[in-house]
Amino acid sequence: MNLSFNRIAALQGEFRPPSDKSLTHRAYMFAGFASSPSVVRNPLRGEDCEDTRNCMIELGLRHEQLSPSEFRLIPTQEWTQPTRPLYCGNSGTTMRLLSGLVASRPLDIVMQGDASLSRRPMKRIAEPLRLMGASFDGDTPPIHIRGGNLKGIHYQSPVASAQVKSCTLLAGLLADGTTSVTEPSLSRDHTERMLNGMGITVVREGLTVSVQGGQQGHGFDFDVPGDISSATFFMVLAALLNGSQITVKNLGVNPSRTGPLDIFRQVGIPFELTNEHESLGEPVADVIIGTAPILRPFTIEGDLVPRLIDEIPILAVLATQCEGTSIIRDAKEMRVKESDRIELVASNLVRMGAKVEVFEDGMAIAGPTPLKGIQVDSKLDHRIAMTFAIAGCIASGTTKIIGAESIRTSFPDFEEVLARLAIH
Ligand code: S3P
Repeated sequence: MNLSFNRIAALQGEFRPPSDKSLTHRAYMFAGFASSPSVVRNPLRGEDCEDTRNCMIELGLRHEQLSPSEFRLIPTQEWTQPTRPLYCGNSGTTMRLLSGLVASRPLDIVMQGDASLSRRPMKRIAEPLRLMGASFDGDTPPIHIRGGNLKGIHYQSPVASAQVKSCTLLAGLLADGTTSVTEPSLSRDHTERMLNGMGITVVREGLTVSVQGGQQGHGFDFDVPGDISSATFFMVLAALLNGSQITVKNLGVNPSRTGPLDIFRQVGIPFELTNEHESLGEPVADVIIGTAPILRPFTIEGDLVPRLIDEIPILAVLATQCEGTSIIRDAKEMRVKESDRIELVASNLVRMGAKVEVFEDGMAIAGPTPLKGIQVDSKLDHRIAMTFAIAGCIASGTTKIIGAESIRTSFPDFEEVLARLAIH
């Protein structure tokens, strides 16, 4: 499916962004091993999370739809051995977190995905799971895991990856002894918070987090907050279009995810948090954001990177409009997401007229430069599709996104939200 985007004048109004993808995946998976049923309210109905729910159903999870936006999830004590490969679609989180859960059970599992997922590295989870005693084949999908009888390890992760951390800790819940993971800088800590909310003891000391094997945890009632990674597309657009003001309702503002707000402070974009509260240990707020009077350039590096890793493509669009050179470093992980995002962001921004220097681990973007509409192939990457859709809203001419169906992965009503907030 192709979609076209043209310049708009401003954004006005309020919206509830799609529910958080990371949290929805975890809610479906963690409900599957709880000691009692759970209720998940407002889960993200994007394709990635629907794939997770389907995989969990194949593994024995029962679900009842209470309303269009509420599921009751009933765990099974013994997970079912599926008769066919589990399909994880486009979703690295599904494959990597589920790997930890199946590796710690007496199951023989094959997992596969689409063409994008089939290129993504799985050695990063194979290593800790093999050290714990699981059999794991496949450096890239499909992967084959034979699990059960794991022993706890201490794992020093070479990457700040919540997927690697979560996979290892989830396997540790059924392993003998203690399992701990140390990461180079803090990645999103949703797993730790949600396990805590289920009554499981998770101990954090600095960058090391550990769990004791043999803990099950109880069911939960979770209203999933909005996804900051999705909301950032519209927050950046509001900042760039004069006379804009939008309110993002019910946004997840976990500090391990709020890197985009740090960038807004660096740039000089005005925003305010109201109605702050918590949902199952996750901080939530409404965020009001308006147009920036000036746009200072910004730097992304070091510990900030994992706090905004998925938002760098849209922040690169912001950089093209800042007065000076913005720097993105230490972000090599971008190259192994749903696509090589450094390559696709840089090459397409240059084709739109931006000044971009590419590094192995990031880029430098000199602004401000006017952008012109082009045709962009999203290469099965939802965030590339939405990044250039938003770039198209500030560019001259028309921007055509090829493969725009990928947007359904994480933001099924992207076009409707844009149409509702846009002022022409
Ligand atoms: C996610 C973690 C991040 C992120 C991905 C979702 C998660 O990946 O890019 O979209 O839900 O744990 P890494 O942990 O591999 O950096």
